Amino acid sequence: MNAPANIHSQQHHGFTLGRSPQSDRLLQLSFPKETVNAFLDAVSEWPVQALEYKSFLRFRVAKILDDLCQNTLQPLLIDTMVDRETGAFLVTPEGLDQVEQADDMVMFATAVSHLMGRSNFDAMSGQYYARFVVKNVDNSDSYLRQPHRVMELHNDGTFVEQDTDYVLMMKIDEQNMQGGNSLLLHLDDWEGLDTFYPHPLARRDMRWTAPPSKNVDRDIYHPVFDVDTEGRPIMSYIDQFVQPKNFEEGNWLANLSDSLEGSKHRLSIPVSIGSFLLINNHFWLHGRDRFTPHPDLRRELMRQRGYFTHAKTLRQPRQV
Ligand SMILES: [Fe+2]
Repeated sequence: MNAPANIHSQQHHGFTLGRSPQSDRLLQLSFPKETVNAFLDAVSEWPVQALEYKSFLRFRVAKILDDLCQNTLQPLLIDTMVDRETGAFLVTPEGLDQVEQADDMVMFATAVSHLMGRSNFDAMSGQYYARFVVKNVDNSDSYLRQPHRVMELHNDGTFVEQDTDYVLMMKIDEQNMQGGNSLLLHLDDWEGLDTFYPHPLARRDMRWTAPPSKNVDRDIYHPVFDVDTEGRPIMSYIDQFVQPKNFEEGNWLANLSDSLEGSKHRLSIPVSIGSFLLINNHFWLHGRDRFTPHPDLRRELMRQRGYFTHAKTLRQPRQV
C-alpha cells in the first residue's frame, strides 16, 4: 500500500490525511482553511472561465496547490489513485461550504484532479466539468437527476471512447435533503466477483449506447470486465446503457445487477457541501442512494472525469 500504515489524521504540509469511518479503503484528505485561502488568493487573477478557455491553466492551478503543500500532495495523489488497496479519497477543502463559493469549489477540485490527471471534455456541458442540479421533479431521460430512486452501482465512461480513469463528484449545494448518500463498492469487496469474472460472458464485447441527453452519437463495444496492468480484474459497466443482444446476455447482466445491488460491502458515504469524492473508476463502482421527496429539494453537483497522466491502471489506452 502506498499510503502510510498508520494514517489516522496525519498532519502533512498543507493537508491532513486519515481513513474514513466507513472503510479503510476510502482516505479522507482535508485541507485546512489556511491552505484553501492561500490557494484562492494565489489563483484570484483567474475566473473559472479562464480555466475553461485555457486548458494549461488547469495544470498551473494544480502546481500552485502542490507548491503550497511543499510538493508532497502530487505524489500522494498519483500513488493512491492507482493503489488497489485504496484508490479513493473524500476531499474536504475547509471553509468552502456555501453554494455562493461554487466557482472556488470548481477551481479547487480542478487543482486536485490535475495533479494526477486531465479531465475529459464532458459532452453534457461542453466543458471539462459539468455542474447539474437535482430537483424534486425531473423529466430527463436517465436516472442521473431522478431523486426518488437509487442510482445503481456503475462505472462512468462506459459509452465513450476516451479512457475514464477517475471520477470526481463534488457536492456544491444541498437543501431540504434527506438521504441521497453516495454509494461505493470496491471490486475486491464484492461477493460476486469470483462468480462473474471467470464467466465466458465477462470478456465478450457488448454494445453500449447513451440516451440523447448525453450528446454521444454512436455506440461502442467492449466487455464488462478487463484486467489492469498487473492482471487484476477491472470493470466497465452500467445497467442503463448496456444493450444485451440476446436472452443469454440479458439474463447474465440481470444476475450481475442483482449481485452488485445485493452486496453487503456497499459503502454509504455522506458528502457535505464543498467536499468531493475522487475514485479510481476501474475498480470502484459508484451510485447514489434514494432521497426523501421534498417540494423544495435542491441539490447541485459537479463532476469531472478524466485520464491519469502519471501512474496507470489500464494496460493500454481505450482510445480507438
Ligand atoms: Fe456515474
